[in-house]
Amino acid sequence: MADLPSLLEARYGATSTGSAAPPVSPTTANPTLETLLQHKSVRNFLPDPLAPGTLELLTAAAQSAATSSNLQTWSAVAITTPDLKSQAATLCGDQEFIRAAPLFIIFCADLARLTTTCAQHGTPGTGLEFLEMYTMAAIDASLAAQNAVVAAESLGLGVCYVGAARNRPRELASLLSLPPRVVALFGLAVGRPDPEAPPATVKPRLPQEEVVRQETWGGAGGEGAAQHQQQEEQAAKLAAYDEALADFNAKQGRGDAPVWTYRSAHRIATVESLHGRDIFRDVLEERGFELR
Ligand SMILES: Cc1cc2nc3c(=O)[nH]c(=O)nc-3n(C[C@H](O)[C@H](O)[C@H](O)COP(=O)(O)O)c2cc1C
Repeated sequence: MADLPSLLEARYGATSTGSAAPPVSPTTANPTLETLLQHKSVRNFLPDPLAPGTLELLTAAAQSAATSSNLQTWSAVAITTPDLKSQAATLCGDQEFIRAAPLFIIFCADLARLTTTCAQHGTPGTGLEFLEMYTMAAIDASLAAQNAVVAAESLGLGVCYVGAARNRPRELASLLSLPPRVVALFGLAVGRPDPEAPPATVKPRLPQEEVVRQETWGGAGGEGAAQHQQQEEQAAKLAAYDEALADFNAKQGRGDAPVWTYRSAHRIATVESLHGRDIFRDVLEERGFELR
């Protein structure tokens, strides 16, 4: 069993002032923590089909996630047929690893099932017309998918989420014959990591103090000197993370990669940087999500 401090060091990376890993107790991981803390996206897959029953196990894990009011407002489409998977890959940023993976699961927000139950019981289903229900469905789908991810990783499989499933949402909906009030949110490529390829490695995350605040957000509404100090503290934390990720990238042979703050700012700089997803609100409305 791995020791927790070394797992956390990998998760938070190194800076010139040392590790950003938080102190923990106890010091020994359990298998669940080990799986969670060692997550890394895998983009090099063996083409071998998954063992029989794997999809069913991943589905059971996904369905074991908590779900708002037990409404279970998500569905998924599991694609294994090479031709269909290749077409889906083309629509999802033409990412080759999707074609290579034996399984590509598209997770969807699904308000169609509840539309049926409303018709069945003669209720107007007005609640389904609100942004709240789309948000609920997106949360449910994400929680389910992440459970599937952890289950897959616990089995020694590799996964990579695919947000590019929203790049060409109309065509993807058509390819998968999605009904009204169902929309593809993201994909998940699943397969056995290719042992011949460079292994995926744990990518450091932002320091904990930047992500989790104690009791209240704290000082956000402050003015003048207090606000200035807060901004400086945040800038220092982000600079430390830029350094940790640069160190990680250098070790991966990507020493020329831009730092995180620069890359993130450019990832959202323009409409074009959304890779076609700027139409997503229109697509949701076309697909029957009124978003009131
Ligand atoms: C919702 C979501 C969508 C993503 N979409 C893509 C994608 O389309 N292509 C890709 O290569 N990685 C994608 N990723 C993987 C992220 O790039 C990756 O999780 C992030 O860089 C952190 O690396 P790690 O998962 O190895 O820790 C996605 C991740 C999430 C959560």
